[in-house]
Amino acid sequence: DNEEENIGNIKQQLANLFDASIRETFPNEPVTEPLVVASSTRHGDYQCNNAMGIFPKIRGKYVEYQNVASVGQAILRNLPESEMIESSSIGGPGFVNVVLSNNWIAENIKKMLVDGIETWAPRLHVRKAVVDFSSPNIAKEMHVGHLRSTVIGDCIARMLEFSNVEVLRRNHVGDWGTQFGMLIENLFDKIPSVEDFNETAIGDLQAFYKESKQRFDEDLAFKARAQQAVVRLQGGEPKYRQVWMQICDISRKEFDKVYNRLGVELEEKGESFYNPYIPRVIEALTNQGLVEENKGARVIWIEGFSTPLIVVKKDGGYNYASTDLAALWYRLNEEQADWIIYVTDVGQQEHFDKVFSAAKRASWLSADNSAYPKASHVGFGLVLGEDGKRFRTRSSEVVRLVDLLDEAKSRMLKESKVTQTNRATYGGMLWTDEELEQISELVGYAAIKYADLKSNRLTNYTFSFQQMLNTKIVLFCLLQFTSRVTLLYVHARICTMIDKSEQNIQELKKTGSIVLDHAKERALGLHLLRFSEAVEESCSNLMPHTLCDYLFNLSEYFRNFYDNCKQRIEERTLTMNRRSRRRQIEEADNNEFQFVISLG
Ligand code: ARG
Repeated sequence: DNEEENIGNIKQQLANLFDASIRETFPNEPVTEPLVVASSTRHGDYQCNNAMGIFPKIRGKYVEYQNVASVGQAILRNLPESEMIESSSIGGPGFVNVVLSNNWIAENIKKMLVDGIETWAPRLHVRKAVVDFSSPNIAKEMHVGHLRSTVIGDCIARMLEFSNVEVLRRNHVGDWGTQFGMLIENLFDKIPSVEDFNETAIGDLQAFYKESKQRFDEDLAFKARAQQAVVRLQGGEPKYRQVWMQICDISRKEFDKVYNRLGVELEEKGESFYNPYIPRVIEALTNQGLVEENKGARVIWIEGFSTPLIVVKKDGGYNYASTDLAALWYRLNEEQADWIIYVTDVGQQEHFDKVFSAAKRASWLSADNSAYPKASHVGFGLVLGEDGKRFRTRSSEVVRLVDLLDEAKSRMLKESKVTQTNRATYGGMLWTDEELEQISELVGYAAIKYADLKSNRLTNYTFSFQQMLNTKIVLFCLLQFTSRVTLLYVHARICTMIDKSEQNIQELKKTGSIVLDHAKERALGLHLLRFSEAVEESCSNLMPHTLCDYLFNLSEYFRNFYDNCKQRIEERTLTMNRRSRRRQIEEADNNEFQFVISLG
């Protein structure tokens, strides 16, 4: 493993300097405090807070250290020379404040530009991760909970991939539950001959599921047959397996449509895949003495829980937990993953706590949560409607994901047509129907994703088209920046600038140098360099909103920079004739939509 520190992490580099200073200041003290270096805006760019923790430990031992401030002073005095630091000072009771050097920031931005952003990826000390996300259930409709899982899971997978972790994107589809018994029996009743069975025979799979469920609940004889069917399916009887596979195929096609629309990649390894592994995994756990008899079932007791984890049901069948134990075993031993991440709603927290605890008792996972191999549950809050209750349609059904995507798109389409009309009145370019279509998909789905990612995932989330729409209005008023900034808008604006100054950028890369002499420009530059920190933090806490915050702030810094330095931007990039340049900038304003489209 590469232990070299990440070049992009400013906090880490400063922490190294402070660490050296503290060792130098207190050569005879074992300093056990973790280093605290935080970004700050008030008295500098970064701040070290360790004097507060150190002082009580050395109080009375040294005449020269009578208070926290004197400890801070000493740490400041012994800080090694570094080109990173412009100046440093003591603030408050003993904080050491650091102002970074403009030159250093500028040089590193140039490095970022020349070497490429990939070289600023954080180093995570993880080789391979499984991200188990989306994971809908066959024959049931994907709902907004699955949407959250899909969006959050995809974002986590992307962040880890960017950080050079090998990611297995796993769709742990519910394809092996007892629901198949009733589906298969109902199907046999309708179409007695398997040869006649095809996709159209079922029609709407969700309606078929409902119908089968109703028969199951009301008709005892049917229920008995359905239960028999599960046994025969799981025993591998060809006729049953064939129908099962066909049902799965219908669902799979529906799921894939959603993934295509959202641009999400997943590899399906459903519950059924792990079925053959269950018996030996349970046997291994039994041999370790972990599995006990309880009221006819076989269970694993977990400290801190009043009910055990059931691994073999009373009737001898396996359940959700047995499958998850086998899947975890497989991921650790066959796939050799060192971090396994599960993205579901917080309602499944207890299930995963128990499964992980069982795995720790079996020594599959490290007992120390910060060491590898480890497993993490990424829980997210409920999706609520604007009435504050669980998000449902009027007829109190769960909201179908496809309907939701359709709605986002059609609202966007309406919106872009209005914008189109406005543009026309002041002579803007018109969009073709195809472009309008593209724009509405791109922005509509992006709005859904962003709304899902931007707040702490653990909080419940109120689904509101109205709110998403707001961001969108700003986005489509291609006028001046307004006080509300949207990421897509700023991104489009930046792309336009980049595109128009391609030649200048090439020259800058080769021979130019970056000068940061305006405060807003410096602020933007420093924020760019904090990119690595933001990705690293989002990855280690598995919190996508940290990255969203970073990006939102980035767009704010950019807006500030742009508003204040417009003149300078023009002057500096002006290698061509001033007039033709101006004309280009004006055209660029009209061309922004093209870059909106290319964002996907
Ligand atoms: N199919 C489950 C559901 O819809 C989610 C599965 C999550 N993954 C897992 N390995 N248990 O709630």
